[in-house]
Amino acid sequence: MAREFTSVGVVGLGTMGAGIVEVFARNGIDVVAVEISDGALERGRANLTGSTDRAVARGKLAEADRDALLSRVDFQVGLDALHSVDLVIEAVPEHLDLKQRLFAELDRICRPEAILATNTSSLSVTEISVATGRPNQVIGIHFFNPAPVMKLVEVVRTVVTSAEVVADVEALCARLGKVDVTINDRAGFIANALLFGYLNHAVAMHEAHYATREDIDAAMKLGCGLPMGPLALMDLIGLDTAYEILDTMYRRGGRDRRHAPVPLLKQMVTAGLLGRKSGRGFYTYERPGSPKVVPDERTPAGPAPADGAPAIAKVGVVGSGTMATGIIEVFAKAGYEVVSVTRGAEKSAKVCEAVKTSLNKGVVRGKLSEHDRDAALGRVTWSATLDHLADVDLVVEAVIEELSVKKALFASLDEICKPGVVLATTTSSLPVIDVAMATHRPADVVGLHFFNPAPVMPLVEIVRTIRTSEETTATARAVCAALGKTGVVCADRSGFVVNALLFPYLNDAVKMLEASYSTADDIDHAMKLGCGYPMGPFELLDVVGLDVSLAIQRELYLELREPGFAPAPLLEHLVTAGYLGRKTGRGFRDHTRR
Ligand SMILES: NC(=O)c1ccc[n+]([C@@H]2O[C@H](COP(=O)([O-])OP(=O)(O)OC[C@H]3O[C@@H](n4cnc5c(N)ncnc54)[C@H](O)[C@@H]3O)[C@@H](O)[C@H]2O)c1
Repeated sequence: MAREFTSVGVVGLGTMGAGIVEVFARNGIDVVAVEISDGALERGRANLTGSTDRAVARGKLAEADRDALLSRVDFQVGLDALHSVDLVIEAVPEHLDLKQRLFAELDRICRPEAILATNTSSLSVTEISVATGRPNQVIGIHFFNPAPVMKLVEVVRTVVTSAEVVADVEALCARLGKVDVTINDRAGFIANALLFGYLNHAVAMHEAHYATREDIDAAMKLGCGLPMGPLALMDLIGLDTAYEILDTMYRRGGRDRRHAPVPLLKQMVTAGLLGRKSGRGFYTYERPGSPKVVPDERTPAGPAPADGAPAIAKVGVVGSGTMATGIIEVFAKAGYEVVSVTRGAEKSAKVCEAVKTSLNKGVVRGKLSEHDRDAALGRVTWSATLDHLADVDLVVEAVIEELSVKKALFASLDEICKPGVVLATTTSSLPVIDVAMATHRPADVVGLHFFNPAPVMPLVEIVRTIRTSEETTATARAVCAALGKTGVVCADRSGFVVNALLFPYLNDAVKMLEASYSTADDIDHAMKLGCGYPMGPFELLDVVGLDVSLAIQRELYLELREPGFAPAPLLEHLVTAGYLGRKTGRGFRDHTRR
């Protein structure tokens, strides 16, 4: 029989604690909610009522249920109020000495059979447990932010946690409607070990002015379908908490430089810019604790300035693959005249057929009228010679990802195209500057990195080299806006924004699997249910293709020489074995068996 939990204690009612109180009280469990002072208790109470009031306003909680929920919470200052609860979970700041002192006190105050749990994100549960006389009853219960919303709980057992306690806590998680993954005590557990390197890297990009905060966040939301961008997420987590987690992970997790907190973080924490909870972090909020972002001095002034940018009416698209096909459709649908150039009439016929099929799908789904389909097709001319690009205003190149081929093509375009034309490459991994220098007009060359499938994906990375002119960038922005896409501007570095942030995380997941810390299923679960990712890393790797992922990871490693970016040996072995993902029927999972 699993242990019955009728009353629990929560210590610390900040970002996480208040949410954890809500989770228990929503599920009919009485909660003793403890803070350190009267002022902190009032802030904690306000955190809880703010969240439940928002739930009522959104129609997710009935008023009577909110009142019942709040009536189950007993707010108290000081730990003595916890003398008779069945379980205590602490959510005080991420400092080992503070948590150890707290656990020693809890050990003295709580009933001998009570379970003592920590919500730590990165500290050693084992080190916390030895501050008590009952380490076998100490466990990690790691909720995700916001606790009432995120489904995942990581249950962290130490080498001495009793099996019974683990089973009782697992049953409790199920009662709370959560999905748990039970794991051993390692820095960052599953989700944070995969998340924080990525978050820190995004802060470094921001610090280096590689792209704006809005563009970094938009890139990850629109390019990967994440619920929020990394900088907005840092603000939600709290920059002080994030700093401590990174610092601990750096020290406990093998001194991986990617976890060494970016200097900007420390400066922001020192300046009191802690994120949402202080009203200001990477963004500015309506007031402390509010989720509403308000404009500040760094907010871009209105839509992208297109003044002075030459008007684009006619666009050339070179290539006959998936990307070229999608890009032709995107431009034609948006009203541009398009000249498609392939290497032969047969290829042109194939591309034309593919564009027609895709447009027809739009008609069948009711997203496009027959008239608009015919008009879009009518705007495209099909050619097998680059000479037909003599009078276009913009060329988008989407040929094979080989530098020599792209350079030769750009040299030809340089001879054929009229002056002032914007020349764009869709490369996802080659340096745009190499392509630009194959012409005599590098100021007019820019990267336009569309995502696959181009007609669906709302993001385009606009890659500006050190030679790209302001005017060219402005034209690229204006074109993206006219296509109904979000264009994010970034510098010409390997992986641009999305791939540079995404692939090291995927590679880290492979390393975690390789180290047998967890299973592919649990790792996928953790990222989906703990962080709201649309797919887990192994699902995504199988879709993207392991060979493609390995190639991108190699490029990142070669350019940045970051030891942590070295491709995971398991990824290399799977590629060598021909397990490339869905396209070969087998990658991390076997897709032939359904
Ligand atoms: N923020 C996140 O996204 C997140 C997610 C999962 C886990 N965690 C972990 O949860 C814990 C709390 O983080 P947070 O972000 O909620 O921090 P926070 O700064 O928002 O809140 C901490 C609260 O603890 C209170 N406190 C401090 N000392 C106390 C004491 N001795 N007794 C009682 N209360 C005390 C503070 O007054 C404050 O209200 C940390 O271990 C953190 O790593 C955080």
